[in-house]
Amino acid sequence: MSGPGRMLLACASQPVDRVPVWLMRQAGRYLPEYRKLRQAHAFLELCETPELAVEVTLQPMRRFDLDAAIVFADILLLARALGADLSYEDGVGPQVSGLPDPQGLRFPDADRVREALGFVGATVHQVRAQLPAQKAVIGFAGAPFTLLSYLLEGGPSTDFALTKALMNQDAQTFSRLLDGLAEMTFVYLELQVAAGADVVQLFDSWVGALAASDFRAFVQPVVKELISRVRALGVPVIYFAPQTAGYLREVAATGPDVVSVDWRLSLAEVRRLRLSACQGNLDPAVLRDGPRWRIEQEVRRILGEWGDSPGLIFNLGHGVDRRTPVHHISWLIDAVHAGLR
Ligand code: CP3
Repeated sequence: MSGPGRMLLACASQPVDRVPVWLMRQAGRYLPEYRKLRQAHAFLELCETPELAVEVTLQPMRRFDLDAAIVFADILLLARALGADLSYEDGVGPQVSGLPDPQGLRFPDADRVREALGFVGATVHQVRAQLPAQKAVIGFAGAPFTLLSYLLEGGPSTDFALTKALMNQDAQTFSRLLDGLAEMTFVYLELQVAAGADVVQLFDSWVGALAASDFRAFVQPVVKELISRVRALGVPVIYFAPQTAGYLREVAATGPDVVSVDWRLSLAEVRRLRLSACQGNLDPAVLRDGPRWRIEQEVRRILGEWGDSPGLIFNLGHGVDRRTPVHHISWLIDAVHAGLR
């Protein structure tokens, strides 16, 4: 196949010779070669050293016939440009600290963002140079609500109590912070596109904690504008917003080229809405647990639910679980390539 690879064709809902496949968190702890590098380097050091980040990005590309590479970085790196301290401790999840209270939070200018995150541009540039043109390079960032929840909660949360308290009690500050983060995120994504990213994915991992009406009131306009500005740079945008099956229409109305959906809904439902191209939606637990027949059964179901229309990108509904055996991924990719129906 020459010309744009299948990943870009599928993003544009164009016909492909076979469904493209890549996996969220395809680089990471389930890979022995990643764990080995991690023994010598802290996670942040891997992200901030382009040679190491390139190596980790390419590790899964060497093992598997994937259609896209996602640049190795983290959504929380942006918090550093705000002056936050970041730490990643095993077992507790990422921790963000050292920021002023929400009312006092001020945003850096574009130059400061570019300076703080320039190493990601260097990684994108080198990854693009090392992969064949048909393999897409995916740049990414956290979406404003998900980033804000980490800044306010200081780490992972189950109820988002501090985030919702700000939204409910001081909507003006809540919106000011979403706008400020969206502006920083635009600069960050622009930097990645300038460095060679072919596609951009926005991760809104926690937005499903919101009511449909709050999503519509607070998040949708901000994400919509951000997506439209990034698309104007000439790259397709994927919006990942898990656990939003109850308001998928509102999610899709933010205008991405591709909506990334989880396993809580059937692709037949997504297709009926005729909203855009779609990425998903295997439960990562199936990939982790197997057995092979079960993985194949689910691939068959997902491809069957989507049918023959263009615009499907095969992926998980969330990231690869760290306990996933490496050979399960080969089984999955073979099944997608075989186009099991
Ligand atoms: O392969 C890839 O997908 C590219 C790299 C990538 C990472 N994080 C690397 C990483 C991407 C795209 C992300 C996105 C990300 N980071 C999200 C959105 C997707 C999602 O999972 O919902 C979120 C919420 C984060 C924040 C974050 N960073 C979490 C929740 C964790 C895991 C904490 C833990 O210990 O399990 C991290 C750390 C992180 N980011 C790791 C990796 C490979 C593990 C770090 C390690 O090696 O210890």
